[in-house]
Amino acid sequence: MTEKKHKPRLLSGDTSTGRLHLGHWVGSIENRVLMQDDYDCYFIIANIQALTTRMDRPADVHQNVMEVMLDYLAAGIDPERSTIFVQSEIAAIAELTVFFSLLVPYPRLMRNPTIKDEIRDKGLGDNYSVGFLLYPISQAADILSFRADVVPVGEDQIPHLELTREIARRFNQVYCHVDPHTQDADYLKQGGLFPVVETRLSRTRRLVGINGPGPDGNLMKMSKSLNNAIFLSDDPDTVKKKIMAMYTDPKRLKATDKGSTENNPLWIFHEAFNPDKAWVSEAEERYRQGTIGDVECKRRLIDVLVALIEPMRQRRLQYEKDIHYVKSILQEGTARANETANATLMLAKEAMRQRYF
Ligand code: TRP
Repeated sequence: MTEKKHKPRLLSGDTSTGRLHLGHWVGSIENRVLMQDDYDCYFIIANIQALTTRMDRPADVHQNVMEVMLDYLAAGIDPERSTIFVQSEIAAIAELTVFFSLLVPYPRLMRNPTIKDEIRDKGLGDNYSVGFLLYPISQAADILSFRADVVPVGEDQIPHLELTREIARRFNQVYCHVDPHTQDADYLKQGGLFPVVETRLSRTRRLVGINGPGPDGNLMKMSKSLNNAIFLSDDPDTVKKKIMAMYTDPKRLKATDKGSTENNPLWIFHEAFNPDKAWVSEAEERYRQGTIGDVECKRRLIDVLVALIEPMRQRRLQYEKDIHYVKSILQEGTARANETANATLMLAKEAMRQRYF
């Protein structure tokens, strides 16, 4: 326990919008599982962020908090080493969101490409709420409440991390009188409260889904709402059906046709998940020559994915049998998270000269 204090702190998490899929795995979860020994890890289940586009579906959001929790435990996030908690139970995050919102010029929020993509992809038009626009600031508060050093995420989160870094610098400059010319790594040494976080990108750029290209001609990212996902909780039969129906090269009608491995989910998946790199590069060559069939390559992929997913699914089934125990882990994690976040809030208020009693 004492040595834990010296480990750098890591914070990451997911919006509670549904079960986790392979895109989450390569985008972040896999990294987190591996980093648990070397970092003091906090994982947030972001239910307020989920509500920003689902305020009329609170029961779904509630259910999905438990789904994400089960997926975390199934994927190997270990509650003995890591702290898992629910966003809305941490009042300090909400308070810091308000203080931080004062440090962000309004037009800055509208320049966030992830926000723009979401407004377009979710068809929000002009109907997004004030709270929706505020969520990147709330995400900065998720991270800064824990004074995290490192945040492992997928590339769509880069704009939010950049905002988090800007808020940290600005707070440190305005309230802790750190010189604006300070290097990011030196803010704490110069008397700042918040580390300027480091983004740790995952090994794979965003994973595509199992369906063909979208209206713009590009393959779409894996997403539950696009119905193109393979979930960490899918059983082997479901994995098999999804892969057998997966989009490949549409111009290749039979195994002897030359195929393209570019922009082909079959090969994107083999490259992302198949540990047998030698087989993948040889089979890709044969695919291009037209000497190997789709079915053979899909069968291989099914074996690879089932080997990855099945142990997680089995662990999930065990946890599902004792949902009270799962809730108690979440409650304990949330209590621990509150201690850390409340301590940060006090320090922030002190720096802002807003502690009165
Ligand atoms: N926005 C992230 C996602 O949709 C979830 C998230 C919320 C998060 N708060 C965070 C990620 C803090 C990293 C750090 O996946």
